[in-house]
Amino acid sequence: MPRSKIIYQCQSCGYTTGKWLGKCPDCGTWNSFVEEHHSQKLRGREAAKPFVLSEITSPQGNRSSTAIKEFDRTLGGGVVLGSVVLIGGDPGIGKSTLLLQALKGLTALGKVLYVSGEESPEQIKMRADRLKVKSSDIILLPETSLEGIISVAHEMDPRVIVIDSIQTIFSLELPSAPGSVGQVRECATKLMFFAKKHGIPLFIIGHVTKEGAIAGPRVLEHIVDTVLYFEGDRSSPFRILRAVKNRFGSTNEIGVFEMTEAGFREVDNPSELFLSERPVDIPGSVVTVSLEGTRPLLVEIQALVSTSSFGVPRRTALGIDYNRVNLLIAVLDKRIGMHLGSMDVFVNVVGGLRIEEPAADIGIVAAITSSFRNVAVKPGTFVFGEVGLSGELRAISQADVRIKEAVKLGFKRGVIPVSNTNRLKDFNIDVIGVKNVEEALEILFF
Ligand code: TYD
Ligand code: MG
Repeated sequence: MPRSKIIYQCQSCGYTTGKWLGKCPDCGTWNSFVEEHHSQKLRGREAAKPFVLSEITSPQGNRSSTAIKEFDRTLGGGVVLGSVVLIGGDPGIGKSTLLLQALKGLTALGKVLYVSGEESPEQIKMRADRLKVKSSDIILLPETSLEGIISVAHEMDPRVIVIDSIQTIFSLELPSAPGSVGQVRECATKLMFFAKKHGIPLFIIGHVTKEGAIAGPRVLEHIVDTVLYFEGDRSSPFRILRAVKNRFGSTNEIGVFEMTEAGFREVDNPSELFLSERPVDIPGSVVTVSLEGTRPLLVEIQALVSTSSFGVPRRTALGIDYNRVNLLIAVLDKRIGMHLGSMDVFVNVVGGLRIEEPAADIGIVAAITSSFRNVAVKPGTFVFGEVGLSGELRAISQADVRIKEAVKLGFKRGVIPVSNTNRLKDFNIDVIGVKNVEEALEILFF
């Protein structure tokens, strides 16, 4: 007889214990333990067969297009058959809309099973009409039990499955509520087995919880092949689809979309978009070129330096790492003699974008200096380069690609690390190589 044992599981990190605890010893969250039953029966499965590496066919070629270029790019060139893609984002950001639009392309594979635990088929129909998605190959299933879904899937043999959303699905075998760590993990795992066995792509929509991670934080990220986050400010129509994990492609790849009356429109030239409202000749604004995956993006970095009215000056960083900003302020203090000890410093990457790479360092430094000195950077100038602790400007990857993008948008002058200039093509614009922060600031402001 399989025994069923009661365990308690932290809903935040998945830590399990035999007795209820008020605070999770692993992640420190209070009041996060929920009772779960774990059946100890062994899953009846055969042992795996070994394979010869050279005889395995690569899944790379087995991709299918969503017919949305930006979506395909984020996936690494279309979705791999048999892979599981998790799409996370705040409620209302547009996850259901994007997937429904993607089905236009994916129906080329055959029947799609769209499981909706949140909306009625009528609601989805209304949305499909708005998006002009008409297909007799899209089958809607308003079902929330895992067992029900699997049995329909077995019968129907779909070529694509969409789960909207994983938080609403529950397995009858577990007593916990839908959306709990145990349920989310169990349901995703069972669905994944189905998808892998049948070699079909599975899209799982997951709402991001208040803490910023997908339900039962992070438990799903290990299970799935690809994790995409849909980001953006709800007050603005622009959305960024970002790959944070991809077993079949590069991460850091992004897709940019604009929400319109009839669904998402792809934004072909995001650089133009991110720079569209840039004030010219205003202190505190600098343009840098960031590389998101394979794609160069021109972004505006804004800084505001003002006298602090409190004892402890404030430092705010939006769209950029907070510690990085502090480090760069320290470099300015030590190497340039720019003392910001009694100043508040705010740094913002315009357009809700988040920059992770150090190539933007000199852009941040220049924006802060520009605001501090109240002098604008000459119009038509861009900068990029990593700043080291001794104030040196370090080379960054793919300078050519970045400069090309800037030239395309009409920039006339670039200030970049000198070590990046020796193997550069001729761009017909002024590209100035500098060794350190001091030299860069001199060129930018004098
Ligand atoms: P939705 O896809 O339902 O979000 P999620 O699945 O992430 O919760 O999209 C919600 C928003 O999108 C909603 O506020 C309305 C807006 N929207 C448009 O602006 N245009 C459209 O064509 C559609 C379908 C939705
Ligand atoms: Mg939805």
